[in-house]
Order: sequence, then C-alpha cells, then structure tokens
Amino acid sequence: MFTRMAELFNVYPLYDIEPVRAQGSYLWDVNGTQYLDLYGGHAVISVGHTHPRYVKALTDQLNKIAFYSNSVKIPQQQELADKLGAISGHPDYALFLCNSGAEANENALKLASFHNGRTKAVAFTKSFHGRTAGAVAVTDNPSIVAPINYKEHVTFLPYNDVEAVKAGITSETCAVIVEGIQGVGGIQVATDAFLQTLRQRCDETGAILILDGVQCGYGRSGKFFSHQYSGIEADIISMAKGMGNGFPIGGILISPKFKATHGMLGTTFGGNHLACAAAIAVLDIMKDEGLMENALRVGNYLMDGIRQVGGYKDLRGRGLMIGIEYDFPVDSLRKALLFDHKQFTGVAGKNTIRLLPSLAIGVDEADQFLEALQLCLKAEVA
Ligand SMILES: Cc1ncc(COP(=O)(O)O)c(C=O)c1O
Repeated sequence: MFTRMAELFNVYPLYDIEPVRAQGSYLWDVNGTQYLDLYGGHAVISVGHTHPRYVKALTDQLNKIAFYSNSVKIPQQQELADKLGAISGHPDYALFLCNSGAEANENALKLASFHNGRTKAVAFTKSFHGRTAGAVAVTDNPSIVAPINYKEHVTFLPYNDVEAVKAGITSETCAVIVEGIQGVGGIQVATDAFLQTLRQRCDETGAILILDGVQCGYGRSGKFFSHQYSGIEADIISMAKGMGNGFPIGGILISPKFKATHGMLGTTFGGNHLACAAAIAVLDIMKDEGLMENALRVGNYLMDGIRQVGGYKDLRGRGLMIGIEYDFPVDSLRKALLFDHKQFTGVAGKNTIRLLPSLAIGVDEADQFLEALQLCLKAEVA
C-alpha cells in the first residue's frame, strides 16, 4: 500500500475503466472484461496491441542498450530511415527523429523558416497540429492557445477552398501546414484540387508545403500518406502516433532541397535505441503482414456496412480513418457502444464518431462493430 501524496493535474475527463492487458484489437480491464478497440488509443496502435514481433524487438533492444545521446552513432536510425524511405516512396528524403506529433510539426515549421527566412504561416480552419508553441499557433482552436503562444504570424484559410489559397498564399508566406485528412476537425478529407493548388501556390511563391501526417499518415488511409492519393509531393511530412505503436516517437521526412547544418535541429530523446527498435518493428510488420492493404480492405468493408446500417448525416474518410456524423450529439451512442457492447470509439466535435482502429483489425471485428452500431442506433431513436 502507498499513501497518496499528490493529485494528478486534472486535465483529462476519464472513463471509469482500467485496462491492464491488451492484444491485437482487444483490451481487458482490471475485472477481466474484454473490450474491442476501434479507437487504437487515438490512432496510435498501428500493428495491434502487444504484437509478438514488436514485443520481441523492444525486449531484445532493452536487453542490449536502451538509450544513448545523439552524440554517438545509432545505426538503428539509419535502418529506420532506409525502411521508412522505401515503404513511403520517399527514398530521397532525409529523416529527423523526435518524440511526438507536436514536436514534429514544431521542427517542420522551424526548418521551413530557417530555409526561406520568412515568418508567416498559412493554416486551415478546424486544423489540429499539437500543443507546443508553434504547433498550437497553427491550430484552429483558441481554447488551447495560451497568450504566450504567439499567433500573429498565422492566417487561417477555409479548408478545401481552392480560391482562398490562390489568394492567401503569397511571397511572404513561409510555410503552409495542412492535414491530408483532418482528424480532430472531424475526418475531413482534402480534395485533390485543394492539395494540388497548395502545391502549385507554394511553388510559385517559395512557401514550404508541410503535410501533417501525424494522424492520417503511416498507412491508415490505405496509402502510406493520405496526400499521396492526390499525386502531390510535400516538402516536409510530419508523423508520430502509429509510428511506434505506442512507444513515443515522431519525425519529419525532409525533401532533398533542405540543407542540414550541425545544431540546426536537436533533441535529447529523439531517435533513441528503443524508439527506433519500436518503429523498425512497426514497419517490418506493416510490410510483411500487408497492413496498408488491410487498412483499405477492412476500411471499405466498414464504410459499406455503415452505409447499410444508415441513420447518419454524413460518412467521411479513407481506409481506417472513418468519421460518421449524425444530426444529434453522439455522447450517449458512444457510451452505449462502450458500456453495453464493450467497444471503444473516438469522437470529433459533438456529432461525429471517429474510428481509428489498428491497421490489423479484421472483418470479424468490423462485423461486431456494425452489429453493435445498429442496435445502439435503434435504441437511440426509440
Ligand atoms: C494531425 C495531428 N497533428 C499533430 C498532433 C499532435 O500530436 P502529439 O499529441 O503526439 O503531440 C495530433 C494529435 O492528435 C494530430 O492529430
């Protein structure tokens, strides 16, 4: 027994559930109750909970060396860069490693500004890019921006508005930061015309195009990065979440037009041995088990099933990043899914259910969700 000495800083509303074990797409709580995970701990669980290859890779690495600073050679970083370059179709891009999505975007914005010497950023309505100073400044949510988070450099344009970006990106713009599919914003998918116009305007003005793939990247959409559906190339791509399947790691892929200098970017923990072992295992599993293909296949199956269940206002997404918008708040629907049917889902805003399961989820699990959704919707309208 221990005596409680300090409170936790109470920033998270909690469900009264304590998971103690997890495997694949399932969790078990302290009472032994099983839950189906359609949320992936917020798009983080990519290859499935406690995948044996992942556990082995981390355990083996832990038994050798867990951490040393970026002042020595860490060959796992190069192995990760090689594998990431190959699977993502960016073998000529360079990799900088950090620890989270916010940090990835922070470094992307800094790199853009170092490169062209400019200060102004363009971001989009309903965007979410993280909570550090630069990342939160380009996030469209005033309630999480503190007075110290300098925002005067940022212009917010309407997402998917081609005419607005033609006028809004100028030769003063340092960087444009955009999600290929907005996550927190409610699973809004960028149109091809929108992303292609962004690319064109950035080329015309010398602005740097940053694609935030923290949530929509890493195979979730069925392509490695969701913007690859539009055939555009980003200058910098940020990633995190699914990259380590729960082990904290983030990074940016950087086009060859940027020149590195010593000391330009840096971090204590970024790219440590354990994080690299986790990220390498994730990529190996994704490749060997065809998880991007699975994300597309099961994602399409879920979308078809949700269409058949009906009752929604709008259905959006790609692969295993799915938003189901209703014309009523979904709080009680999600609680019924969780407490009556033991299924975790996510939410965006008040009316949209967000599905972000592991990329390894199967059709059986999809069927369990569709059945539960149908029952809960019937109860909701009854
Ligand atoms: C699109 C996007 N960018 C950045 C972030 C921030 O990532 P992190 O919480 O790892 O800092 C998130 C987190 O939800 C995100 O969805």
